[in-house]
Amino acid sequence: MYYIGIDLGTSAVKLLLMDGGGKIVNIVSREYPLYFPHPGWSEQKPEDWYEQSVLGIRELLRDVDKSQVAGISFGGQMHGLVILDEDDNIIRPAILWNDGRTTEETEYLNTVIGREKLSEYTANIAFAGFTAPKILWVKNKEPENFARISKIMLPKDYIAYKLTGVHCTDVSDASGMLLFDVKKRRWSQEMCDICGISISMLPQWYESYEAVGTILPRVAEELGIRASVKVAAGAGDNAAAAVGTGTVGDNMCNISLGTSGTIFISSKHFGVDRYNALHSFAHADGSYHLMGCMLSAASCNKWWMDDILGTKDYAGEQQAIGKLGENHVYFLPYLMGERSPHNNPNARAVFLGMSMDTTRADMTQAVLEGVAFALRDSLEVARSLGISLTRTKICGGGAKSPLWKKIIANVLNLKVDVLESEEGPSMGGAMLAAVACGEYASVEEIAAKVVKVVETVEPDAELAAKYEERYREFKEIYPACKPLF
Ligand code: XUL
Repeated sequence: MYYIGIDLGTSAVKLLLMDGGGKIVNIVSREYPLYFPHPGWSEQKPEDWYEQSVLGIRELLRDVDKSQVAGISFGGQMHGLVILDEDDNIIRPAILWNDGRTTEETEYLNTVIGREKLSEYTANIAFAGFTAPKILWVKNKEPENFARISKIMLPKDYIAYKLTGVHCTDVSDASGMLLFDVKKRRWSQEMCDICGISISMLPQWYESYEAVGTILPRVAEELGIRASVKVAAGAGDNAAAAVGTGTVGDNMCNISLGTSGTIFISSKHFGVDRYNALHSFAHADGSYHLMGCMLSAASCNKWWMDDILGTKDYAGEQQAIGKLGENHVYFLPYLMGERSPHNNPNARAVFLGMSMDTTRADMTQAVLEGVAFALRDSLEVARSLGISLTRTKICGGGAKSPLWKKIIANVLNLKVDVLESEEGPSMGGAMLAAVACGEYASVEEIAAKVVKVVETVEPDAELAAKYEERYREFKEIYPACKPLF
């Protein structure tokens, strides 16, 4: 049988077809626009997501026996606010995870309601990109839209709704709304009251590997697949990527280098850090995880290459990079503000330390290193909680670069396990569909059977020591710049 994983990303939807043995049969990707209507705002049209997903599924299945498709599931960009009225019209464009407009609402939640209460209700505090502050923003700034809200959902759940007619979400994505009691796995009535919404507006939640329904007959016909195809709830893209990289069970780590950069630590037990600097979310394998999220990771390199240097030759630019660990240029990667651990939507990117002999390659290197240092910031929070890690998996577009993997291994002083493919969320989505259809008994079982490490990048003691010095300097830069942001 075949399983489809849909990774509803920020720059594109990526679709992956996997067979029952875990072999990737086909991958397609389709882009859609991202809108920045004001500085710091970030929006997309849910209609674009669905249109490109449907076209993508058709393209994905063009040369295979469509009757063999058994299940579909997702990894989706997290936290985005999608609101529908009672006739299922989309009320306004979706406000995305990297949107920084909710400074006032985030401040209100963290100070007036208070971090302790938020953490008690949801295991997390408010970050500008989370869903609840966005609901409050719509309530405060667009009351006519707020009054029309009948259904609230997350990006990937809009696709599930269009495919099945079921208003659903999963526990990992629900965790990022600041409306879900992560420890008890239930919606928080207190948070709904604070946001002025009712629980009936929220989706029915499922474990990520549970089927929510089957494809609507009309849609099945349009896609050329059987109406008995099951749709599983899926997961937020980071939890889905963790499944796709086998980061399940206790104390496993995955780094995702996509538009955002995340460090994801799986755990069998619920845990929350005292300062809530890391997110404490439910995992797609039925347990929990901690996660640090930086808002711009591979997107920093893309911005530097495409928009500033005006090149698509990423590998060529990286070839010119000579010595590691000795760069005197630093880059703060806060092009969209920063989430973990600074929680500052007003933070901005900075190049520091150039001199007349600084080269283009030094600056490219600084961008790659800046992202690694910022990931290290989140790793340090995890280490301060007594979490001890020696290795990590890696996925996402940035994981294609051997140089970037080497920098990450040495800056974080972790062994980096490289997998057969760097398709995290779409692979995870397909794997969740296979579990929902009964092909595997559990997420842990499919991860153990299907995920294969092909190479390990080991840190080098001398280089790691050099980067340790550099990281100490990097850490000084944000506090020094903060008053200027
Ligand atoms: C995680 C987060 C991002 C998005 C990217 O908290 O905001 O990783 O999920 O799609």
